[in-house]
Amino acid sequence: MKILILDDAEAVSARAAGEIASQLSAKPASVLGLATGGTMEAVYEQLIALHRDGRASFAGATSFNLDEYVGLAGDHPCSYRHYMAQKLFDHIDIAPGAAHLPLGEAEDPAAEAERYEAAVAAAGDIDLQLLGLGLNGHIGFNEPTSSLASITRLKTLERSTREANSRYFPEGEEPPRLAITMGIGTIMRAREVLLVATGEAKARAVAQVIEGPISARWPGSILQMHRQATVLLDRAAASELELLDYYLDVHPA
Ligand code: GLP
Repeated sequence: MKILILDDAEAVSARAAGEIASQLSAKPASVLGLATGGTMEAVYEQLIALHRDGRASFAGATSFNLDEYVGLAGDHPCSYRHYMAQKLFDHIDIAPGAAHLPLGEAEDPAAEAERYEAAVAAAGDIDLQLLGLGLNGHIGFNEPTSSLASITRLKTLERSTREANSRYFPEGEEPPRLAITMGIGTIMRAREVLLVATGEAKARAVAQVIEGPISARWPGSILQMHRQATVLLDRAAASELELLDYYLDVHPA
């Protein structure tokens, strides 16, 4: 794992956006794996700025998002489909139909998960997978004890995840209990992964994922087995790392 620790969240999101732009210029027909959540909002803002400057074109790219809530239609303001349209797709040149998310409102969500997994595989799998990190170490919506070999499927969300994400829902409305998520095996097939975490709240999960044992208890820890994984952190998210000085020494900001 390549551990890059930058001063603050702004530097981290600029760097993450820069990595995606480099991927697109090296391979315009890249298959991107995209993520949602608060951390990614800043990344997408920077990416839109790069696009406006002519430094990132998505015209030849395809994307697959990690996950979607079950039961939310795409036009629901809290669906990830809506999030992606608002925060990224409406502002860039990705071709209509080239940006994929699982269909949260599918009548048969289990069949939808199977279809989605097949679509990712048919696209040749992901070239660059962007990942956030849950407080409990989840990647996508692969909650603790998810099979480290799992593929796209239905997952029941942990209470802590639903609480963390409830800030995006209107008062009185709770995040759904179920989501469709790419599996850990799906994510591990990506040729390159970029995990982004910022803020002190993530410090414990970050330390477990990077320095803890590989375990389904902290699903992101499987990235220790990935051949090309980069973890981008700000100082706050890196604050519980035992080998902090070593990482700073190997990759000075
Ligand atoms: C959600 C998403 C994850 C994301 C996580 C972190 O649970 N399903 O893919 O990594 O949020 O979100 P945030 O960046 O808001 O902390």
